[in-house]
Amino acid sequence: MLKRTHTCGDLTLDHVGRTVILNGWVDGWRDFGGLVFIDVRDRYGLTQCVFEPEVGAELQAAARELRNEYVVAIKGVVAPRLPGKENPKLKTGAIEVRADALEVLNATPTPPFDIQSGEANEELRLKYRYLDLRRPAMQQVFVLRHRITQLMRKIMSDQNFLEVETPILGRSTPEGARDFLVPSRIQAGHFYALPQSPQLYKQVLMVAGFDRYFQIARCFRDEDLRANRQPEFTQLDVEMSFVEDEDVLTTMEPLVAAMAQEFTGEMIALPLPRLDYHDVMERFGTDRPDLRYGMELKDVADLAAETEFKVFRQALGHGLRIRGLRAPGGGQKYSRKDIDGLTEFAAGFGTKGLVWLKVEADALTGPTAKFIPPAVQSRLRERFEAGPGDLILIVADTQAVTSQALTNLRSRLAAELNLYDPKSFHYAWVVRFPLFAWDADEGRFVAQHHPFTMPLPEDLPLLDTEPAKVRAQAYDLVINGEECGGGTIRCHDPNIQSTIFRLLGLTPEQAEEKFGFLLGALRNGAPPHGGIALGLDRLVMLYGGLTNIRDCIAFPKTTRGTDLMTGAPGTVDAKQLRELHVRLME
Ligand code: AMO
Ligand code: AMP
Repeated sequence: MLKRTHTCGDLTLDHVGRTVILNGWVDGWRDFGGLVFIDVRDRYGLTQCVFEPEVGAELQAAARELRNEYVVAIKGVVAPRLPGKENPKLKTGAIEVRADALEVLNATPTPPFDIQSGEANEELRLKYRYLDLRRPAMQQVFVLRHRITQLMRKIMSDQNFLEVETPILGRSTPEGARDFLVPSRIQAGHFYALPQSPQLYKQVLMVAGFDRYFQIARCFRDEDLRANRQPEFTQLDVEMSFVEDEDVLTTMEPLVAAMAQEFTGEMIALPLPRLDYHDVMERFGTDRPDLRYGMELKDVADLAAETEFKVFRQALGHGLRIRGLRAPGGGQKYSRKDIDGLTEFAAGFGTKGLVWLKVEADALTGPTAKFIPPAVQSRLRERFEAGPGDLILIVADTQAVTSQALTNLRSRLAAELNLYDPKSFHYAWVVRFPLFAWDADEGRFVAQHHPFTMPLPEDLPLLDTEPAKVRAQAYDLVINGEECGGGTIRCHDPNIQSTIFRLLGLTPEQAEEKFGFLLGALRNGAPPHGGIALGLDRLVMLYGGLTNIRDCIAFPKTTRGTDLMTGAPGTVDAKQLRELHVRLME
């Protein structure tokens, strides 16, 4: 075999005159009668090779036989391209290789889609993932992913964190999603659970004295998939001892700053903003606001009370909320029909209607304007800081519906009205989440993060009186409206822990049965500890400018949980099932 002396991204004018060998895939071929051009590609770049008449009819004929994606070795001499034929877009664009030998390392059938343009439906791309991953754009994503993980390892190691692996075959962990289960062959009727995160193990590592732990950890959650969710994903998982919540944030911030600098070129100011959960919910209607633009939500219940508008009066009578936002320039941009579209969009989040008011120089207009006295109109303008050309949108509904509808309108409007630079980044911590969330279906509290979270010290007295109001030592890292990380300080006090279990509806026996090993560890000299996990796939998505998490995972699953390349999940034969003591239901 002609083994490569250089990659397809190496050669420049410095190499002119050198005899080289390239190995790679045929990226394109052009036959100009006398001259046969072959572009060879590998993960480093692309080099143009030319077979001139001087090399003889036989070799030229062999070059003519090459087709896209053939695997080849080409030997030749580096030469400057003819004046005017340079390609400034390529690293190797100043030279070409005058070929004098060719070896076909592997022929291939015509690819099922065009690798050069990458235009193919996603199913085809996932089925032939090896071809899809061969595309330079995809390879760049995995270079980025590699750089992010290397940076994580370096910065964590530099801060004295130890990388420790934890089991994949383990016990159910409490992240709140459904588990993937693995039946045990040796113990009939017993199952391992794939970890939803290394949560319990990392806490045990703290009890064991590994005061600073990290792991690039694979997590498994059997939940409904979305554009930013996979059943199998990766976290930078971190836990530390003898810390309070601020310590975790300040320990992670150098990594955030290094990522910003490395992958966006931006020097961000530390500390990052810490935003209170309740403020954020009020101002943006979501716990992961996109802070690249304003458009904050405003409460207008007091002004609504001064109108004659039936919908508002009734809503107030029912104790509902009346909130809205201002779309800058929306009054100018949106037609009546566009606004109907926005109303329909909001209805998708449960609203029963959408009040809209266009801001004109001297009045508000729109079907509802006539019910709003002029004095109230001008106070509405002030509340929203609105000027001519703006559009005010108001929803009357529950806390949840007004939040959901307005936060989604907010992100849609910001994009449509070009209110931010899509290439920009905004980082913030959201802190002091509630300890509990109310699960209406089950009629009980569930842990907002997980059951081992420590309440804020000042809220401890509320545990017995108003559990819904207890805030946790919990924090999320939010980048551009995406939850990129989350963690808490853990509860290492057995008394507080049992109160929390009781409020979660777990009897001491149930708690012992579910988490006995952890509770045992916590009773055996647990240091105060806490940690966080960053979503690696989501970070790759953000820094790669991607909108779909599947594009940052080498072998992802579809929304139906299928790997289209291998066909997983697949069936297994009856013997395997028998060995596992598993019988399929009819
Ligand atoms: P949490 O469940 O918040 O915390 O997860 C941490 C981060 O992981 C990412 N993430 C996901 N990414 C892709 N697909 C998914 N299905 C998915 N689920 C979560 C998010 C999220 O912020 N053990 C705790 C951490 C701790 O308390 O230390 C945990 O797993 O970016
Ligand atoms: P209706 O009285 O239902 O015909 O509604 C009159 C106007 O009020 C329409 O423009 C509706 O979109 C709007 N509207 C109705 N219900 C609500 C609501 N809950 N919040 C905001 N606007 C509403």
